[in-house]
Amino acid sequence: MPGAATTTAVGAEAARRRTFAVISHPDAGKSTITEALALHARVIGEAGAVHGKAGRRGVVSDWMAMEQQRGISITSAVLQFAYRDLVVNLLDTPGHADFSEDTYRVLTAVDCAVMLLDAAKGLEPQTLKLFEVCRARRIPVITFINKWDRPGREPLALLDEIEQRINLRPTPITWPVGTAGHFHGVVDRRTGEMTAFQRTPGGATAAVEEQLTPAEAAHRYGGDWQRAVEELDLLGLTGADHDQDTFMAATTTPVLFGAAVANFGVRQLLEVLASHAPAPQPRVDTGGTPRGVDAPFAGFVFKIQANMNKAHRDQVAFVRVCSGRFSRGMTVTHAGTGRPFATKYAQQMFGASRETIDEAYPGDVIGLVNATALGIGDTLHDGPAVAFPPLPSFTPEHFAVLRAADISTFKRFRRGVEQLDAEGVVQVLRSDRRGDQAPVLAAVGPMQFEVAVARLDAEFGVPTQLEHLPYREARRTDAASQERLLGVPDAEVLTRLRDGALLALFTSGWRMRSIADSRPGVTLEPLLAAD
Ligand code: G4P
Repeated sequence: MPGAATTTAVGAEAARRRTFAVISHPDAGKSTITEALALHARVIGEAGAVHGKAGRRGVVSDWMAMEQQRGISITSAVLQFAYRDLVVNLLDTPGHADFSEDTYRVLTAVDCAVMLLDAAKGLEPQTLKLFEVCRARRIPVITFINKWDRPGREPLALLDEIEQRINLRPTPITWPVGTAGHFHGVVDRRTGEMTAFQRTPGGATAAVEEQLTPAEAAHRYGGDWQRAVEELDLLGLTGADHDQDTFMAATTTPVLFGAAVANFGVRQLLEVLASHAPAPQPRVDTGGTPRGVDAPFAGFVFKIQANMNKAHRDQVAFVRVCSGRFSRGMTVTHAGTGRPFATKYAQQMFGASRETIDEAYPGDVIGLVNATALGIGDTLHDGPAVAFPPLPSFTPEHFAVLRAADISTFKRFRRGVEQLDAEGVVQVLRSDRRGDQAPVLAAVGPMQFEVAVARLDAEFGVPTQLEHLPYREARRTDAASQERLLGVPDAEVLTRLRDGALLALFTSGWRMRSIADSRPGVTLEPLLAAD
């Protein structure tokens, strides 16, 4: 019976998917570990190049001149590779100057995250912001402490920081032998065996590993081994052991140590992804019913990228497959409008490379070209109708008033602003005081403003001017509080177009608290709520 066979096959394909993203602060080694992971695994298809900074090996996509000048990739896309019998999807989380709402949104499309820390720096600001999104969405997190080949902090101190600052209990899987800077290898806490690493020049190939019994390790590494054993005893006493249930509930995190640049510990990370990271789970629809992974095809758009290819003026919608088998050419339904949507031009992409994709399964990401009818958060499905909850909006930290340089272009200006809002390029806020001609753009990263201005000019023929506002904090508020905040210096309340939410903006956290203290009854809620 083909139907039943297909259903089973889809379930099996879903079970061998691992879809994750790396959350880190710039320079912790995300590009390096991505390259190292790809080296251990077999990259599927041609699109294997990994994006990196200008001048390094890799692909730098070229959809905007701005991007080329800066040598960064604005495109969030996916690297797909095979490891053992698994298909691993690593979704890119743009950092550096291109940190934006897109970076957060990628986390709506993954089943797990790898938190990458620099051993000398521990938790850094961008990692903390991304972690908060993981926490709100209850995404299980695996921690990789990187750069162990050079001087850093004590491993126990790093674990303590994770537990104290973000209330996530570390449960190390491996433990380093040798202090940071004098790294010999790692002990697998489950077996007690040590894996000794030998450097290969530049980390260009997988590290040479040697398995040692505890006796062999003690003989070879003496005091360093002894110290690792003592630290392991201490960990054993505190019961910091991996527990799959608490990991899945996102209250504990398995921890690994390594040096991505030398390829140390990267295979161990892949092993943990394979054995512990969750496969795609049923996604709950707006009615609260989970849609099993082997239900008919369904997916949602988590990113829209316009004009990736200047020559074609195209628009690509990135869809995370949640259930069923996707095959190129199938006609699916756009849940929002009920209209059919043809998928002739489905692609898989990473950076500037594209290739046609023929089929995809839960956990995979497909790029739909010329998908102008689709918006962020839209559901596509086959078979009976299904809709997934809208994607959350994330907390903006940068604000600017946008005006058309020439008032006669207002109609196009308004259309362009609506389009950028629908695509999630920026959040658009309005108030009666400022009027429609001067909307306030809100962004997670300032680069989103530059993209908005460049696109309004290039695609809508509307030159615009930005006036940066001094606000840095945003909270959700209500109509009564809006009244109370009227005319208060260093504060302003605006309405978000996307969902009608009232956002109170403040120039600083300190000022926000002092305003709230002096006006009891003003409601200020965090914008990022757990769903
Ligand atoms: P990012 O994508 O997170 O921003 O970081 P990226 O991989 O670009 O790494 C940032 C810097 O840290 C790079 O050095 C990289 O070589 C280095 N790095 C990454 N992993 C390790 C590690 O395990 N050990 C050590 N010692 N360094 C590491 P760079 O000087 O900025 O670039 P490059 O000239 O080395 O390529």
